[in-house]
Amino acid sequence: MEHMERKGCDATCSVCGLVPLAPRLKGATHVVAKSLSMQTLLKRVARFAKSDAPVAVWGETGTGKEVVARILHASSARAKKPFVAVNVAALPAELLESELFGHGKGAFTGAAVARSGLFESASGGTLFLDEIGEMPQSLQAKLLRVLQDGEVRRVGENRSFAVDVRVVSATHRDLAERVRDGSFREDLFYRLAVLTLEVPALRERRDDILPLAAHFLAEERSEARGFSARAKKRMVEYAWPGNVRELQNVVRHGAALATGREVDETDLPEGILRASSPAALREGASRDDEGLRTLAAVEREHILRVLDACDGSQSEAARVLGVARNTLWRKLRSYGAVA
Ligand SMILES: Nc1ncnc2c1ncn2[C@@H]1O[C@H](COP(=O)(O)OP(=O)(O)OP(=O)(O)O)[C@@H](O)[C@H]1O
Ligand SMILES: [Mg+2]
Repeated sequence: MEHMERKGCDATCSVCGLVPLAPRLKGATHVVAKSLSMQTLLKRVARFAKSDAPVAVWGETGTGKEVVARILHASSARAKKPFVAVNVAALPAELLESELFGHGKGAFTGAAVARSGLFESASGGTLFLDEIGEMPQSLQAKLLRVLQDGEVRRVGENRSFAVDVRVVSATHRDLAERVRDGSFREDLFYRLAVLTLEVPALRERRDDILPLAAHFLAEERSEARGFSARAKKRMVEYAWPGNVRELQNVVRHGAALATGREVDETDLPEGILRASSPAALREGASRDDEGLRTLAAVEREHILRVLDACDGSQSEAARVLGVARNTLWRKLRSYGAVA
């Protein structure tokens, strides 16, 4: 089932009860949600849209956490106000602090003029704090204060002022685990996770794979209008450690290589062809009949297999593989499995 944007039409979607996504929602004008688990999730989103309480979105990398946050915003009374997204992991602590809360004139070297922060920019709307699990400890206390008081103070200024912002946070990490190991404040955790949404991994909602693939293919400028039966089988059986984003990359690859009306199995990236399907692994199927392979191909398959066995947890997979998380992440990125 597809939740479609219809320009100029304000009707509520008969499928999930959501209003159509605002046209300005870049890259998320269509939300494919055929599986039961995604439909259930969208119904929950529609209910949460009526409230102003903070929402924490959990899910593996590439599952669509930001898409879900955008739907939440677009379905809420805040839809006409800004949706401001910030990746907490992308900035060092000091920069992030002034980015979020703004700074006064002369607050630090280079602060020639006062500047408003993202909390102010999101006024009346939604602030999406992505990768919240990476938030530096020093800022966790400040964020907690903003959430408790509903007031923001710019760096280097004494006065605070009220802000009306709904905070939606997201992480691919097990935040409860971070609370247990002391790297994330428990009080902040409970403040952020008043309402929670969990976006299921793509392998847990295989009914979405082909509709998503068709949706992404339609976005490509390719002669191919569909997929061959063999290509479909590969996609449905693959474990998708990089979830929807990986599927999007695979479809782009397929669309670029396709020569006819259909994307065939051979147009798909090597990784998805070589990776053992969960079904094949369960049946103990041997890969020996595939002949001699490069070390890189074997490594890739092994890495994806371990990641799958670790339920997509990169830190767990890195531990099993005996490599640094960064190394694993770099490799996954080179496979197109993460962004
Ligand atoms: N249900 C869906 N329908 C259509 N497109 C989707 C859907 N879910 C995800 N996408 C697309 O897949 C890509 C990844 O989605 P998104 O950025 O929301 O994932 P994420 O969970 O935030 O990933 P990360 O953990 O890497 O930040 C985006 O291009 C998004 O538009
Ligand atoms: Mg994201």
